[in-house]
Order: sequence, then C-alpha cells, then structure tokens
Amino acid sequence: MSERVLIVDDEEDLRYIYMRQLRGDGYLLDTAADGEEAIGKIRENEYAVILTDMRMPRKDGLAVIAAAREYLPEAEIIVLTGHGSLENALQAFKAGNIFEYLLKPLDDIGILNTVVARALERRNLRKHNCELFDQLQRAYEELRQKSEALFQQEKMSAIGTLAAGVAHELNNPLTAVVGFAQLVSEKLRSNRPSNWNDTEYERIAQALDNLVHGAHRARDIVSTLLRFARASKPSARSLVDMNQTLRDAFVFTEHLLLRNGITLEKQLAPELPPVWGNAARLQHVFTNLLINAQQATPSGGTVRVITEHSEEPKGVWIHVEDTGHGIPPEELDKIFEPFYTRKENGTGLGLSIAKQIVDEHRGEIRVLSTLGEGTRFSVFLPTDEAQSSNPPRDSREAA
Ligand SMILES: Nc1ncnc2c1ncn2[C@@H]1O[C@H](COP(=O)(O)OP(=O)(O)OP(=O)(O)O)[C@@H](O)[C@H]1O
Ligand SMILES: [Mg+2]
Repeated sequence: MSERVLIVDDEEDLRYIYMRQLRGDGYLLDTAADGEEAIGKIRENEYAVILTDMRMPRKDGLAVIAAAREYLPEAEIIVLTGHGSLENALQAFKAGNIFEYLLKPLDDIGILNTVVARALERRNLRKHNCELFDQLQRAYEELRQKSEALFQQEKMSAIGTLAAGVAHELNNPLTAVVGFAQLVSEKLRSNRPSNWNDTEYERIAQALDNLVHGAHRARDIVSTLLRFARASKPSARSLVDMNQTLRDAFVFTEHLLLRNGITLEKQLAPELPPVWGNAARLQHVFTNLLINAQQATPSGGTVRVITEHSEEPKGVWIHVEDTGHGIPPEELDKIFEPFYTRKENGTGLGLSIAKQIVDEHRGEIRVLSTLGEGTRFSVFLPTDEAQSSNPPRDSREAA
C-alpha cells in the first residue's frame, strides 16, 4: 500500500514544484494551502510524512505540527521554511516529531526525495518497534497470567496434601465414634433406663441419632478427601467413573446449596462409560461449576446435574444447570479468561482452571445462558481413549 504524504504550503507554485518532484516516488500525495486546511486533513487521513511550511495564514506550521502530534503520533514531519532562525527551529522541534528542518529555497530540489524516503524509513522502523513492543507486552502478560494460574493450582495441590494428612489422622477416631454412637443408640432403644421419663428419653434418643448421622457424614467427607488425595498428583491418570466423581463433588457442595435454600437435583445416567483421566482434577472442575451455580442462584432455585452418554463423538456429557441470574451475552466469551470476575471476592480463576483441566482431557466446555432465567455449563469428556486397551495418553505426558 502506498504511503500518504501531505504537502502544506501557502504558495501554490511551491506546492506544485514539490508535488512534481515527489510524483515519481510512488506516494499518495495530498496538499493543503494553509494550516487550517492541513489540520482538517490530518484529522481524517493517515499520513506517514508531512511536509510543512511555517508561516502561513489561518494557523501556522506550529499548529500543524501540534495537530500531527495529537492525531498522527507516528507521522514524521519535515519543516520547509523561509524564516530559519534558531528560535523558530527550537519552537518547531519542541512542538512535535520533526525529522528534518530545511531552509527555503532549497539549493537542490532533489534533496526532497531523499529526505522524504529517509523520514519514511524512520517512521516504519519506529512503527515496527512499537508492534514488537506490543507483542512483547502481550507475551509478558500471558506469561504472568499463566504463572498465576499455576501458582493457584499448586496451592490447591498443597491444600490437597494437607487435607489428605488430616483425613488420614481422622479416620481411626471417626470409625470409633461411628461405632460407639451406633452401639449406644441401639442399646438405648432396646434397654430404656427405668428412671427416664418419655420426653427425656426421646430427646436423648434423637440426639444420639443426630450424632450417628453427623459421624457418618464426617466419615464420608474423610473418605472422599482420601480418594481425592490419592488422585491429586496432577499426572496420575486412571479410568474415572464420572458419576462417582460427581458424588464426590456433592459431598463438598451439597450442604452449601441446601444451606442457601437451593435444591440439588441429580440425574446421573446408569452405566456411564469411564473416562481416562485424573479424578481429583475432574472433581475440581465440577466443584467449581457447582460453587458458581450456587453463587448465581437465589434461595428457592434449583441446581441440576445431568450425566449422559454420547455415541458420536464417543464420550460423556456432564451438564450443570442453575436457575440463577444468568450471564449477559457480551460476557460469555470473557468468563473463561483468567481473572475475569464479577464477584467482590472472586479470583476469576475458577472457570479458567476448569477449562484448562477439561482441555488437558481433550474435552470441551460450553455455556448457554439466559439472563434472569439461568445458566447451563456442559462438559464433554471423550471416552474413546479409555476404551482402547492401551490408552495413548501416557501418564507422564499428562502433567
Ligand atoms: N452459573 C453462573 N451463573 C452466572 N454467572 C456465572 C456463572 N458461572 C460463572 N459466572 C460468571 O463468570 C465469572 C467468572 O467465573 P469464575 O468461576 O472464573 O470466577 P469467580 O467465580 O468470579 O471467582 P472464584 O471462582 O475465584 O470464586 C463470575 O464472576 C460470574 O460473573
Ligand atoms: Mg468461581
């Protein structure tokens, strides 16, 4: 594409001479007869080089230079003046991007061709540098975001290790609590102490039931944590039953939903084929989706989790639907970006990490949302790898 060059001079003869001189060099040439006309054109066109006189009616060269600095910061300016004092020159250089300051009349008009060509070279070089700088900055930003996400992941896996240690320690005393609570409860039911009245007896029997129930729940949490920890080495892969992974995710999230007055509906397809992957990381995906659903859904709403088998392409679909506030259409493509959040205390990493994990499993994550009605996140995980006797994805590759 030809570069645009603007020639600004109030003398028509000079404009004509400059035009004729530059005509053969392949530029798109344009002229202006005074400062004001020049400024109007600078606002509307992308000039690469501006050749300007200094003393002109209706706005002078300094005003042209200032306008170029504002509207075309990359343009190079060549001043051609008949009034060459040091003071004038200094003023021009202060006002903008002056490439050359030439005095009229030019001894050799041919110098114009060289000066314009060199100005263009400098301008293109600078533009190229700016582009490189932008690229560098983008690469840096990407790197920074990735390392932050990695840090979050490492933190999660450290928390996982810690949780596993705690779970392990809790396992024995909990087994004792469950066992004894059950024993006492049964004894009490069959052997009611004679000195207890009805109310007292019912109250204690109820308390014991609650104790047994609570201890069972604690034991479930602990065994889920242990399962999570066993698979929480990012590289560990095995055949994963997604229904079980979801049940594990429910252990941590169901009470959160119930406490907020939200119903959790589970429609888990029987005989779902297993997925070749990392159970702990997949559990993390659905824990994130369920927490997001809870945060978006008001009391009285419903969160539904559906699993289904797909033949073509071979795999499983897991849908997490809510009846929450929804996502505005213009935000749909941003929500998977790291740090995108609309929550006061959100990190904005939940969905970006979820997407990363789904990508690691060569799956896909989609979202459908209607403002004021609800949102559905759908995750596809392929199963063809799991079904082949020798899974192509080596566990060492999976980290
Ligand atoms: N089910 C949903 N309904 C409505 N908006 C959602 C839903 N899930 C995610 N979003 C929107 O996407 C944004 C990004 O979600 P993401 O999980 O990545 O981060 P976050 O939830 O804001 O922060 P964090 O996960 O750290 O708590 C949310 O802030 C929210 O605006
Ligand atoms: Mg979130």
